[in-house]
Amino acid sequence: MAFTPAIWPRKLRTQEWFGGTGRDQIYHRGWMKNQGIPHDMFDGRPVIAIMNTWSELTPCNAHLADLAQKVRAGIYEAGGLPVEVPAFSASESGFRPTAMMFRNLAAMAIEEQMRGLPMDGCVLLAGCDKTTPSLLMAAASTDLPSIVVSGGPMLNGYFRGERVGSGTHLWKFSEAVKAGEMTPEAFLEAEASMSRSPGSCNTMGTASTMASMAEALGMALSGNAAIPAVDSRRRVMAQLSGRRIVQMVKDDLKPSDVMTKDAFENAIRANAAIGGSTNAVIHLLAIAGRVGVDLTLDDWDRCGRDVPTIVNLMPSGKYLMEEFFYAGGLPVVLRRLMEAGMLHDDALTVSGGPIGDELRHVENHNPDVILPVEKALTAQGGIVVLRGNLAPAGAVLKPSAASPHLLQHKGRAVVFEDIDDYKARINDDDLDVDETCVLVLKNCGPKGYPGMAEVGNMGLPPKILKKGITDMVRISDARMSGTAYGTVVLHTAPEAAAGGPLAVVQNGDMITLDVAGRRLHLDITDAELAERLAQWQPPAGQEDTGYAWLHRQHVEGADTGADLGFLKGCRGAPVGRDSH
Ligand code: FES
Repeated sequence: MAFTPAIWPRKLRTQEWFGGTGRDQIYHRGWMKNQGIPHDMFDGRPVIAIMNTWSELTPCNAHLADLAQKVRAGIYEAGGLPVEVPAFSASESGFRPTAMMFRNLAAMAIEEQMRGLPMDGCVLLAGCDKTTPSLLMAAASTDLPSIVVSGGPMLNGYFRGERVGSGTHLWKFSEAVKAGEMTPEAFLEAEASMSRSPGSCNTMGTASTMASMAEALGMALSGNAAIPAVDSRRRVMAQLSGRRIVQMVKDDLKPSDVMTKDAFENAIRANAAIGGSTNAVIHLLAIAGRVGVDLTLDDWDRCGRDVPTIVNLMPSGKYLMEEFFYAGGLPVVLRRLMEAGMLHDDALTVSGGPIGDELRHVENHNPDVILPVEKALTAQGGIVVLRGNLAPAGAVLKPSAASPHLLQHKGRAVVFEDIDDYKARINDDDLDVDETCVLVLKNCGPKGYPGMAEVGNMGLPPKILKKGITDMVRISDARMSGTAYGTVVLHTAPEAAAGGPLAVVQNGDMITLDVAGRRLHLDITDAELAERLAQWQPPAGQEDTGYAWLHRQHVEGADTGADLGFLKGCRGAPVGRDSH
């Protein structure tokens, strides 16, 4: 793709705040000088905001305060003025009821910071699951030149000689405790082995997936996604990105130049190849909605369908992000896609050049981590989009995390009306369930939970686990952690709380899952379904206040990205009016 840099020098937006001798400019500039900034730093050079999602309550991002110093150095070196801005940090491991409810709040807050404060370009410093999409959504809405710097994954975890993956082993260990195969003491020891360095989850969970999506979209420099948080090369990446954003501002290279439909198609294919998180579906749809790209759920199925999963990382495979980095990281995967004719290699990136130019010389240093196609984990690794009378607007399933023998399945529904009902009954040995049943969980969608918690991979009943069975078909309108696994149908839309057909599934109904045919069917007649839907009453909800009220009023379906409707679209970053 051709990109024509702007003619430089030109007046930047921050000169509205800092340039000249008007009262407003003296006011803004004078206040900034209380930080000891020399006058010549306001001479029209780019002001770059390091939008930092650092927080000690977002442990995955707790090292970003340090990493920001390297970004700052790079900005200075390239002739910009760096300013660090604390950005809303939606912590996956800490926020209740679920960080996802706050992704849109974070995106809204960051967007208004970008629009209302003096900055010409942004470095998006991200790590934990929701921080990357919220920053990208804000950048897409304002269209200010922006570049992603990821915090990087944690080092490998090890427990008694075995690799331990963030999240993935949490599910495994907690089910082992439930099944009586692991002591609580051993569980605590394992927990301590899991998170042994700064950084984000070390599996191909949502954080690593979204870092990979940022790179595949072209919004980060090549190689950004996989460098471990504590590796010195992560710091080099931060410094180089600081240098690069200054030139991007000079060239007026904006998110809308980079995040085109081709770029999203590249990201979708990359997600299939890495065995990425189903959460990427929702986040990419939301980002596309902000930048004005017409991306749909069907694009996910169409683009990902024939892409094999070749990255042998947990939860689908064996290794962790540290090994992915040593093998060559995402550039190797993108090169493989390019060689297979599955990559738009002319898509522009923040480097200022086409993505293909950065891939021609990369090599795979470990074919057991980045597999040859004939050894792919799954031949068709893309996210599957299911439709049918149970999911008229779509539902998703990740084949690389599912059990092959369950991909064609018909079973009796065991229904839980909401997450509290599930928690109250799942451990009851009198629950009428066997391994051929289909567990159905309602009212956990964007409105229902609210925020669409990661409870879709609901744990199996202990009496099934004790038989040595580790997977059953599960269906819900919830999400699933990117570190989780199982034959799990997620994001069923419309959701139950909005009156979707999921709301009227009853215990004992038969449900057909046909992954090859992309079908999810409730085996009752159309007349019966219509009758049940006519009788349906919304669940009695709690009285929301504050942001929870705003969220529930305006959140849209998972099938379009679960954004707040009024935040969709690109509103730009006009300088606005000054009141001083
Ligand atoms: Fe933050 Fe996984 S919980 S990256």
